[in-house]
Amino acid sequence: MSTTSHAYTERDVRDFFDQTLSTYLSFWDGDGVLHTGYFTDDTDDDYRAAAERTSDILAADAMIDGSSSVLDVGCGCGNFLIHLARRFGCRGAGLDLSVERVKFAQEALTAETGLDIGFRQGSVIQMPYETGTFSHVVSQDALCLVPDKPSSHREIHRVLRPGGVFAFSDFLQPKEEIGERARKHVYDRVRWNGGYSFVGYQAVLQEAGFEILLARNLESHLRQTYRVLGRTATERAGTTRDAAARDWMLAFAESCAEIQVAIDDGEFGWGMFVTRKPGDTTP
Ligand SMILES: C[S@@+](CC[C@H](N)C(=O)[O-])C[C@H]1O[C@@H](n2cnc3c(N)ncnc32)[C@H](O)[C@@H]1O
Repeated sequence: MSTTSHAYTERDVRDFFDQTLSTYLSFWDGDGVLHTGYFTDDTDDDYRAAAERTSDILAADAMIDGSSSVLDVGCGCGNFLIHLARRFGCRGAGLDLSVERVKFAQEALTAETGLDIGFRQGSVIQMPYETGTFSHVVSQDALCLVPDKPSSHREIHRVLRPGGVFAFSDFLQPKEEIGERARKHVYDRVRWNGGYSFVGYQAVLQEAGFEILLARNLESHLRQTYRVLGRTATERAGTTRDAAARDWMLAFAESCAEIQVAIDDGEFGWGMFVTRKPGDTTP
């Protein structure tokens, strides 16, 4: 599963997401959304709408409603949980490793009224929640970054009620061997050690005690996300006065081109999985 010569730690991942918050806000999404979009077709270039569509598909697949108690792991700036609470009136909690992203989420929440949710800093491998607390655990493009994946699966299984749903999107490592360019532009860029293939992920989830309800292999949407964001980064680089931010955006745009090659070469992928912890759903 590992693709890197260097094994990244949680500390490396946290530092990366803390240090890059303001840069990502300046060109990816000003509200802090940082996940893959689900596009209507190859000509669709509305990233924000596509990112919201991903959230809506995941919420529908997970069967979230007003009675749900939802944990978002790797919640980043909190957008998904705020969206769910606004839309369904569900309760919930968001947990993320990044201090800066959690601060952003907490500030965004102060602008809302009547939402029964909260955000905390912490790691998915050791969560500050009682066993069986949540009816749903959701996550978007975060779990691949966890160096100790078996512990994250064990913890998610623990905090879910029997019969509860674990529904998430995540990056995939479709093949074992990863070339230097993909390693640099896809994996090392975000401090990612390596992940599972589409089929391998399902086997690991089953071993961790989850029943698979649904699995979607969605690499075309991943390609479109980086096509659109690469273009945005190039455009923004042309107008920004901050030299460091401009260099970062140009490097990101270059990575976006390499990322699309990596997807075509089977070195990078994206999927959605909906699973269930066996048992009676009665709280
Ligand atoms: C690509 S971002 C996605 C953020 C958010 N889910 C979204 O859709 O905008 C990945 C997030 O996972 C978080 N993360 C990575 N490893 C984590 C861990 N072990 N525990 C909790 N959060 C983690 C990072 O801090 C980062 O905010």
